[in-house]
Amino acid sequence: MAVALSEFARSLSVETAFTVLAAAKKLKAAGKDVVELEIGDSPFNSTSAAVQSGLQAIRDNQSHYCPSPGIPEFREAAAEFLTREFSIPAAADQIAVGPGAKIFEQFFCEAFLNPGDGCLVFSPHFPTYIPNIERRGARAVLKPLRQETQFRPQVSDIEDFLNDDPSPRAIFLNSPHNPTGGVTTEQDLRDIADLIRGRDIAVFSDEPYCHMVWEGQHHSLAAQPGMLDQCVAAYTFSKSYSMSGWRLGFCVSSREITDAIGKMINTTLSCTPPLVQLAGRAALMQDSSERDTTMRKFREKVVLLTEGLNRIEGFSSLDPTATFYVFPSVKPVCNRLGITSHGLALYLLEAADDSFGVACLGGECFGAAGAGFLRFSCAEPNERLQQALDFLPVAISRTERIESWLNSHPQFRLKAAYV
Ligand SMILES: Cc1ncc(COP(=O)(O)O)c(C=O)c1O
Repeated sequence: MAVALSEFARSLSVETAFTVLAAAKKLKAAGKDVVELEIGDSPFNSTSAAVQSGLQAIRDNQSHYCPSPGIPEFREAAAEFLTREFSIPAAADQIAVGPGAKIFEQFFCEAFLNPGDGCLVFSPHFPTYIPNIERRGARAVLKPLRQETQFRPQVSDIEDFLNDDPSPRAIFLNSPHNPTGGVTTEQDLRDIADLIRGRDIAVFSDEPYCHMVWEGQHHSLAAQPGMLDQCVAAYTFSKSYSMSGWRLGFCVSSREITDAIGKMINTTLSCTPPLVQLAGRAALMQDSSERDTTMRKFREKVVLLTEGLNRIEGFSSLDPTATFYVFPSVKPVCNRLGITSHGLALYLLEAADDSFGVACLGGECFGAAGAGFLRFSCAEPNERLQQALDFLPVAISRTERIESWLNSHPQFRLKAAYV
């Protein structure tokens, strides 16, 4: 007899980018030429010192267990990096290391949320926030990010959450923001810090794109006075150092919170491989100029893609401010074709052409507030981005193909026009 899965397991929603990635790879294996703009990965190699140090660490037999919160030399390097680059007053024992940034969503929720607690999430949002909140039996309280306000979280929404929610407990912030590319300004962060300081409210500050701010500089809530006592800020090597497959990230917080997270690492992962930490330490200490050169290449890509998309009728994206995503509204196109935005994304991949496709995501993969938008990542060489741009107007003009695809995929018919 099959054993019943838990309610949580049955209702678990996942990051759609990985599902579309699998579909794109399958089509490629069958011979289709697919430009893959669905997942937020880097087309560049991992940075040089990281690779050298990782290889050396394997030769040096750095392939055993290590302390759960991380090896001392990594924690030291991470604390110095945060102080140097973002003025976060961190010491080594305020750093905990994990396999990427995502795992800290779970640990943050385990650290602060009890069943029934309210956790504010600005939406569109990174898809795994909600399952991690629900894993604790807590409630995600969604507030919108809007294109009209550059996808910045509105401080008044936080005020409303604190005043109106029966049990306000935590807030997820993400700047620079995936999928919208929005940036929370330093003034926004100051206002948020003033609002929550001294209250029993914890913030997860998700900052994987900290080196991808195209106007001005990255700012962290953790740099605001007193905020390390209320905030867990998470960083990753996946984007800045093109190390997504190494699985390395870290968080910074107060000593007490870091100790609690250390216990969570102890009871789940045991530790993050020391050879990976040594590679990351080398990246932090030696690869910043290579990193910055790569970031400039990403900026060029985002500009190319944004300008190209804005030339297509019915697509409108804000000027690029941050991240390697472009998030245009495609509401006029969807309304005209009677297709949802994720339906449009899947049509571009699967059905617009027999031998060529573009993989991207509908904004609703990031919550209902993202409906009517598409998210493109810049994860391919520039000439491939251009091929995708050339293909899009042709694809959406093939109305017979769209109709036939909608007939076989009626769940993607648009029921009510996007406004
Ligand atoms: C907002 C956000 N948080 C977390 C992550 C997870 O990154 P990592 O590879 O470090 O786990 C991503 C990756 O795309 C992201 O966009």
